Amino acid sequence: MGSDTMHPRVDAIVREARAAVLAARTAADLEQIRVRFLGRQGALTQLLRSLGTLSPEERPRVGAAANEAKRELEQLLEARQAEAVEAERRAQRERERPDLTLPGRRPPAGAVHPLTRVQDEIVEIFAGLGFSVAEGPEIETDYYNFEALNFPVDHPARDMQDTFFLPGALLLRTHTSPVQIRTMQAERPPVRVICPGRVYRRDADITHSPMFNQVEGLAVDRQTSMADLKATLELFAREMFGARSRIRFRPSFFPFTEPSAEVDVLCFLCGGEGCRVCKQSGWLEILGSGMVHPGVLRNVGYDPEEVIGWAFGMGIERIAMLKYGIDDIRLFFENDVRFLRQFA
Ligand code: PHE
Repeated sequence: MGSDTMHPRVDAIVREARAAVLAARTAADLEQIRVRFLGRQGALTQLLRSLGTLSPEERPRVGAAANEAKRELEQLLEARQAEAVEAERRAQRERERPDLTLPGRRPPAGAVHPLTRVQDEIVEIFAGLGFSVAEGPEIETDYYNFEALNFPVDHPARDMQDTFFLPGALLLRTHTSPVQIRTMQAERPPVRVICPGRVYRRDADITHSPMFNQVEGLAVDRQTSMADLKATLELFAREMFGARSRIRFRPSFFPFTEPSAEVDVLCFLCGGEGCRVCKQSGWLEILGSGMVHPGVLRNVGYDPEEVIGWAFGMGIERIAMLKYGIDDIRLFFENDVRFLRQFA
């Protein structure tokens, strides 16, 4: 702002205004100063308004000096206002600057589904015994799902109760056993395959789902026996349920195996004492098995006089439910993260 020679009264106001501007810290302070000097009741405004009371000689000098001072004060305030706004923005940016030393937020990691995990574990155990993985279609014909597996025409498993029939003489496979047939048709013995996959049955309650998963095993060779089947399943049980695990065979029936056996594993929760999970029996049923029926071998062009085979099949959900103490099969398919997270 100009020197102090304009006019003593104007000079006094200008000095006061200049000091105030210098002391101002914020845009709000500057606005107050503007009101104090240039507002309707402001000192300079008052002075300009009172020019009429001055003598005619004094009036133009004071008027010119006051107008000049007003212009300059306006310019000064405007410049300082811009600086103050910029300084406040800078301060705000500084306050809001991210703290790079804070630990990051971890995105939630996914996990392998418990069924996939159990299936992988089963496949791994048999892979270690020289079995390779074979897969087949989920939509099958009656031939592969039933006929080639030696199901009599009137067998109850063909009934509408169990099988989902599809148009065009097709059906949703009710077990993974058709993969046995497809494998034997495609390969000459020795055969050693493990067949995981989805299967479908018209059944739904807390332990049955209309879609579930099985793992089928098949071994065919010139020389093998039920003792090999039992030893293989014993080893499987120990790997799957622990070194102290034991199994037992119970006579059973399947059209495609003869003899057939249901396999129980010693209840790993109570060690055979009897508990809620094994229904006080001490044993848990985990799979079906048997020696491949000679008729099945003939159906795939094998000579039952030359080769012999055994097979087994188990439900993955059932194994997973036993292993993790899950009492409702539907939990596997609802994809509730609160359930799934427990397996992370
Ligand atoms: N396919 C049978 C089932 O689904 C299980 C099984 C497989 C039994 C192989 C014996 C041999 O119940």
